Amino acid sequence: MGVNWESLYTDSARVAQVSPLRDLLRFGSAPDVISLAGGFPAPELFPADAFREAAEAALTTDPGAALQYGPAEGYPPLRAFLADRLTHQGISVSPEEVLITNGSQQGLELVARLLVTRGCQVVAEDPSYVGGLSVFGCHHADYMVVSVDGDGMQVERLEEQLRGEGPKPKLIYALPNFQNPTGNTLSLARRHRLLDLSYRHGIPILEDDAYGELRFEGEHIPSLKSMDSEESVIYMGSFSKILSPGVRLGWLVAKEGVIAHLLGLKLGMDLSANSLTQHVVYRVCSTGMLDGHIEGVKPFYRERRDAMLRGLERHLPAGATWSRPEGGLFVWVRLPEGLDAEEMLAEAVREKVAYVPGMAFHPLKDCSNTMRLNFSAVPVPKIREGVRRLGRVVTRWSEARGSGELPLSGDLRAA
Ligand SMILES: Cc1ncc(COP(=O)(O)O)c(C=O)c1O
Repeated sequence: MGVNWESLYTDSARVAQVSPLRDLLRFGSAPDVISLAGGFPAPELFPADAFREAAEAALTTDPGAALQYGPAEGYPPLRAFLADRLTHQGISVSPEEVLITNGSQQGLELVARLLVTRGCQVVAEDPSYVGGLSVFGCHHADYMVVSVDGDGMQVERLEEQLRGEGPKPKLIYALPNFQNPTGNTLSLARRHRLLDLSYRHGIPILEDDAYGELRFEGEHIPSLKSMDSEESVIYMGSFSKILSPGVRLGWLVAKEGVIAHLLGLKLGMDLSANSLTQHVVYRVCSTGMLDGHIEGVKPFYRERRDAMLRGLERHLPAGATWSRPEGGLFVWVRLPEGLDAEEMLAEAVREKVAYVPGMAFHPLKDCSNTMRLNFSAVPVPKIREGVRRLGRVVTRWSEARGSGELPLSGDLRAA
């Protein structure tokens, strides 16, 4: 009779589907396609020499420890390094309040396992990080959606929603700095108001700060965690965008009682984060190079962002709008009303440019005329050409929409 797999899958496995656009985006990474779709840091800026030396030293000095299982909460010197660094950034913590994770993506899963139960509400920005939404989706959360503008989450709207009857959300998922996907940043006034709401209603905040250190313009705004007088915030950081995503290392910061529960959950998941990369990353960081490295990356990202904004100004038709991020990796585009970015992708790939349609970033999947563009991983001449190609496609589709006919049937598989 054999195994009837379909009948055995859990509800989570059924929800966790791979996007149907994946194939198209893979096609979009062909060498002659300019991909503005990724979410990657610039590979040519990785500090490979520092890693080579640190790996050599880790495997020469203490191979027994570097290649062994490590403590579940993380390599102690790395926890201490992070606690010290965070304290300098205004988040005063001890190493015991830091839990090392296998990337911050694992941090999201841990926090979801800690707090999210079937049918409970999670406050989600609209749009929000797709990887966070997929985790909460797997835990069958419902969303209380709060839209994002140039100053980040519209906290006033959340306040109105929380005034309503009904069960309170169990978690606020906040992306205050250079949010993925819009690149927008939560203003200081809204940060204060969000913390106040969290305290008044007793709702914890998960502060996902993957991009905060990548500010290349404007004034630094203190993190929620640094202003959190009531220990209501779980802070989440990552080495991915400031050093290397390949090392798969992130961290959660919370009061010790919360860390203890997260640690229990983590043990069942993977026993510990990768020992070898923790040793190597610690050695890289202990040379004192991290701040200098981040400073060195910023001018590249700024130049690439500028090239993208100039190109959009020049090539996108009237009715399109876009964000103007002061850091991070992304620009968010809203196409003229009535255009469907998912349908248009097939033609864009034929024109040899790729982007990520925005639908997956909208928690309620109710908006089709948005797209995310990445500037960090693409050299300036390619950004210029890529945005020119994109402008051609969007203009054609806008005109066709205006005249009542579209150039394509909308069949994505045609690409
Ligand atoms: C906002 C945000 N959070 C978390 C992650 C997960 O990152 P990692 O697991 O590489 O730390 C990403 C990755 O792109 C992200 O954009």
